[in-house]
Amino acid sequence: MSQDDTSQLDRRRTADAPIHGPEGFAGMRRAGRLTAEALDLLVEHVRPGVTTQALDDLTVAFARDHGAYSATLLYRGYPRSICTSINHVVCHGIPNDKPLRDGDILNIDITLIVDGWYGDSSRMYFVGEVPRRAARLCDVTHDCLMRGVQAVLPGRTTNAIGAAIQSHAERERCSVVRDFCGHGVGRVFHDAPTVLHYVEASYDVPLRPGMIFTIEPMINLGRPQVKVLSDGWTAVTRDRSLSAQFEHTVGVTESGVEVFTYSPKGYHRPPYDIAA
Ligand code: MF3
Ligand code: CO
Ligand code: CO
Repeated sequence: MSQDDTSQLDRRRTADAPIHGPEGFAGMRRAGRLTAEALDLLVEHVRPGVTTQALDDLTVAFARDHGAYSATLLYRGYPRSICTSINHVVCHGIPNDKPLRDGDILNIDITLIVDGWYGDSSRMYFVGEVPRRAARLCDVTHDCLMRGVQAVLPGRTTNAIGAAIQSHAERERCSVVRDFCGHGVGRVFHDAPTVLHYVEASYDVPLRPGMIFTIEPMINLGRPQVKVLSDGWTAVTRDRSLSAQFEHTVGVTESGVEVFTYSPKGYHRPPYDIAA
């Protein structure tokens, strides 16, 4: 979600995130798993010459075959069922008929609704052989996500997540995008709390068992600034540097964290071992 959306959230409401019970966690396990399976399915289809529209079509068919549908189609006027963000595109890239090219890095972000529960996740994919610096960025970004996930513990606050992500990104001479954030998710797409991927005292929210939200850091090789193209959606780095993102939906438990969107096939980060 965008920072503009979050600034419209009342501060009290931001702190007042819904607490989900066992039936919510059960629903999120099903939605998260199906979303992860869709991301798994696309692994073997991402290669030079394939269009992002073809990946969108595959996702729509997969969702339909499993009694689910995409949250993004017509969400605030968004025109497709997945987001496909290539190279310097930070997020919200719109699938189209341009073929993927050897050396591209691609984020695919999918949100599937299963029995009313929303599973939201994204991963990076390599198109053929990618430059070393692009692969490094993807590794750094996945490490940022997992450090953020591991920072989740009841009694801590959302800034523990931001601190874990920001410190790792900056240690690796990368930058954290400020204009988009993680968000509560459950029976609605974007809910409280707001989860920033950097430290910002004014947005700090205590983590309590039963909260469910996404962590979805966008990390740039260059500067953090982004701009949105004239289509109203596609966010790109202002300096045209490469950008990467991974996203999980997680729940806060009594003892730590549950990740709802792990890959059943172990496709956590590229390059994916398709034989596995
Ligand atoms: N899935 C994105 C997120 O992580 C939101 C996409 S909204 C869309 O929050 F309209 F761009 F599809
Ligand atoms: Co999200
Ligand atoms: Co998403």
